[in-house]
Amino acid sequence: MKRFLIISSLWLVAVTTTLAQDLQSPDGNLEMNFSLQEDGTPVYSLNYKGQEVIKTSKLGLELKNDEHSLLAGFSIEDTATSHFDGTWEPVWGEEKEIRNHYNELEVKLKQAETNREMVLRFRLFDTGLGFRYEFPQQNELGHFVIKEERTQFAMAGDHTAFWIPGDYDTQEYDYIESKLSEIRGQMEKAITGNLSQTSFSNTGVQTSLMMKSDNGIYINLHEAALIDYAAMHLNLDDEKMIFESWLTPDVNGDKGYLVSPTQSPWRTVMVSDDAKDILRSRITYNLNEPLAIEDPSWIKPMKYIGVWWEMITGKSSWNYTDEFTAVKLGETDFDAAEPNGRHGANNENVKMHIDFAAEHGFDGVLVEGWNIGWEDWFGHSKDYVFDFVTPYPDFDVEEIRDYAKSKGVEMIMHHETSSSVRNYERHLDTAYAFMNKHGYNAVKSGYVGDILPRGENHYSQWLVNHYQYALEKAADYKIMINAHEAVRPTGIARTYPNLIANESARGTEYQAFGGSKPNHVTVLPFTRLIGGPMDYTPGIFEMDISKLNPDNDSHVNSTIANQLALYVTMYSPLQMAADLPEHYEQFPDAFQFIKDVALDWDESIYLEAEPGYYLTIARKEKGENNWFVGNVNGNEERISNISFDFLDKDKDYIATIYSDGKDAHYKDHPQSYEIREVRVNHRSKLSQVSVPGGGYAISIMEVDKDKAKQVKKL
Ligand code: NOJ
Ligand code: CA
Repeated sequence: MKRFLIISSLWLVAVTTTLAQDLQSPDGNLEMNFSLQEDGTPVYSLNYKGQEVIKTSKLGLELKNDEHSLLAGFSIEDTATSHFDGTWEPVWGEEKEIRNHYNELEVKLKQAETNREMVLRFRLFDTGLGFRYEFPQQNELGHFVIKEERTQFAMAGDHTAFWIPGDYDTQEYDYIESKLSEIRGQMEKAITGNLSQTSFSNTGVQTSLMMKSDNGIYINLHEAALIDYAAMHLNLDDEKMIFESWLTPDVNGDKGYLVSPTQSPWRTVMVSDDAKDILRSRITYNLNEPLAIEDPSWIKPMKYIGVWWEMITGKSSWNYTDEFTAVKLGETDFDAAEPNGRHGANNENVKMHIDFAAEHGFDGVLVEGWNIGWEDWFGHSKDYVFDFVTPYPDFDVEEIRDYAKSKGVEMIMHHETSSSVRNYERHLDTAYAFMNKHGYNAVKSGYVGDILPRGENHYSQWLVNHYQYALEKAADYKIMINAHEAVRPTGIARTYPNLIANESARGTEYQAFGGSKPNHVTVLPFTRLIGGPMDYTPGIFEMDISKLNPDNDSHVNSTIANQLALYVTMYSPLQMAADLPEHYEQFPDAFQFIKDVALDWDESIYLEAEPGYYLTIARKEKGENNWFVGNVNGNEERISNISFDFLDKDKDYIATIYSDGKDAHYKDHPQSYEIREVRVNHRSKLSQVSVPGGGYAISIMEVDKDKAKQVKKL
């Protein structure tokens, strides 16, 4: 893969000063100010087009058993500014080339009493600010333990926020839209149940946090390059409207063990008066390190189906038998056990899925529940739950491998760790080698339930290091990872693009666990997707879950057209068609969009966007002249108006528009849709109604003039 790195200009200015330092974004819209307060506390502020976005906010870290900490008493030793403008090509992505363009300020600080050095590095892009703490090698700060990072983000008003409760163990919450001052009052109802959860404060929220000010400024707080450090939450002082960082603690309540030279992740503040810029911004990726994999040619986008939704809905089971309440690997005899007759991962069912994938052009098939241990897989704090290599008696690894190969379909491995992380690390090499041997080049891993070692949290430094270890080791084995319940991504896929997706938010599975809010998918691109792609698992066509399992009365709060649009609006190089093959067979014309839609893009154009309400995106297929458009809509009916001026001027296209039917509604008529074929060119315009929880999807294929003429104009 070719990569370009062009440093267009670079200048360095070194001055010894205690004066305030200003930094501007390349377009001049953002202005950052850094200074030291009288007691030597570092502070910064941020303005956008002359308006305050971040008021004077403190920077620093409180250290454990350390009377000085890294909070005050600093003087400026040195400052340097520089400018960077370059482009790089992602292995997969929303566009084929990403521009990395910023002005940088480096501030070298010295704490007189301790002689310690700390560097603050600020990068100001047109779409936001990134900054981090750096701790150069020094004997005065060799090893240190973080009690709390004390980075502030002082808001300039009582903004509207789209937030989920701060939690050390889960992100699988529905978003709440409220004023910052209302977070405290709504926290209790926001904390819905999960198999592992630890909230910490009535005003604690997670990143990426999306906000909008009363005068229409969009602000997003997150972090980039979370490596060897605990994930950051935000705790709000709702009298002063100041957010402060709140790291995920380990079992002892400590928030990080650091050894210099080292640095914190980048703290990011995206800002614009146009919500589309938040989607367009690439600062999270740009603040990560370049590609670390020498030859990434084995990393490929994948569209897949799976033996999965049937278990999630309760139609079938992961476990093979109902005979045991406890399983001991190596001792429990599965061959002698009575099968429960509901085990999804059986040879016949898997082969049916392979056939379906081959017939409809899917790259892969995921099979969950293939390996022994699911009889008591969570809730028992059991260390040795899975060995990741031993199949149940009705799943023949070799036979399935050969069958899939003969049909040109890839099998996707499943490693549910049930959060017994130490056990997973013990088995990791064997498990990855087993995948290599049997031709699996992608794994969906999972971290359901409370972490073992007991007392650890899903997002503490120890766990962050585990996810990274599993990712880097997978790269050695040429394996792609899709980790569920792991820490939310922070752009690390730039460096390790074998992290092809994560869950780390409330995915489609919750539509079968009682349902998600109909506007959920209008928030996710502004929050969870800021750090990287999500394995959201769209494509549900049967919204009445009781039809799959009479004991499950969940309803999928979405129309079929909305489900189709998600393949465009929820960018991911890994996309699932999550429903059962039989449901796709009922709606072959709508299914056609899922078959056609691309996974990798030359270009993405954000046509309309308002978090919580709607978004419309057009994307051009990588290396082809086909375009796909997706619109997802929130709780109210809306007319979307778009222009096709992104199309080539001299070309003709046929557009197939998959929209909500006239009587469609996520609740009452979710399966009502219309499909029409029209001729379009760069002058065409569309005015399209999307119903509550609805949307539309369009595939646009280039055709020759004669073919175009046979089709009615839009
Ligand atoms: C939770 C994951 O999100 C889901 O996709 C998976 O099926 C279950 N864990 C079992 O591993
Ligand atoms: Ca999950």
